Amino acid sequence: MEAIQPLGRTTFGDAANAGNVIPEKEALELLYDWVENERLRLHMKQVGGIMKAWALEKENLSEQEAHKWWLAGLLHDADWEKHPNDHCRIIIEELEKRNIDPVIIQCIASHGPRHFGVEPHSKMDKMIYAIDELSGFIHAAALIRPNRYNGMDVKSVQKKIKTPSFAAQVSRDDIQDAVSRIDYSLEELIFFIIEHQKEIS
Ligand SMILES: [Fe+2]
Repeated sequence: MEAIQPLGRTTFGDAANAGNVIPEKEALELLYDWVENERLRLHMKQVGGIMKAWALEKENLSEQEAHKWWLAGLLHDADWEKHPNDHCRIIIEELEKRNIDPVIIQCIASHGPRHFGVEPHSKMDKMIYAIDELSGFIHAAALIRPNRYNGMDVKSVQKKIKTPSFAAQVSRDDIQDAVSRIDYSLEELIFFIIEHQKEIS
């Protein structure tokens, strides 16, 4: 992640495009087009699925609003495989070119404040930051269990977070920082992700 360049700007998209989204089928086509790595594809689908579930269940948003959360989650790493040094910039420019709702672009730009230099503002921004880190971490924890997500509990994940050698590439500082910005505890967030992530493949 060290080579990533900060985005050098903090506003994205055009307010006139509010409400413009990519339909589900087209968004998945973009994902399959841009990303070949199966694990990365799954990670993006997981973050999209958790974002959508969170929007519907925790924020009580409409299907239409929740679709925006799904899109941001689904596409947040779209350029990571092919453009590691320009990660985030390429997908942002693509979505700007497609005249997509700026809240979706802003959300993608906020998913790594330490790397991209963009602070999460909205609830949606703050949740992508928190969910991105934890979703990947919890999936790594599930993969080493014989029963995967079945019977996985919050405490075992918390224990792994305190074990620096486990999934060492996941920044514990980022997890802590992200969770400190939302109105939910780390325990609640881990529980929510375990419950929903097992259904996303
Ligand atoms: Fe990610």
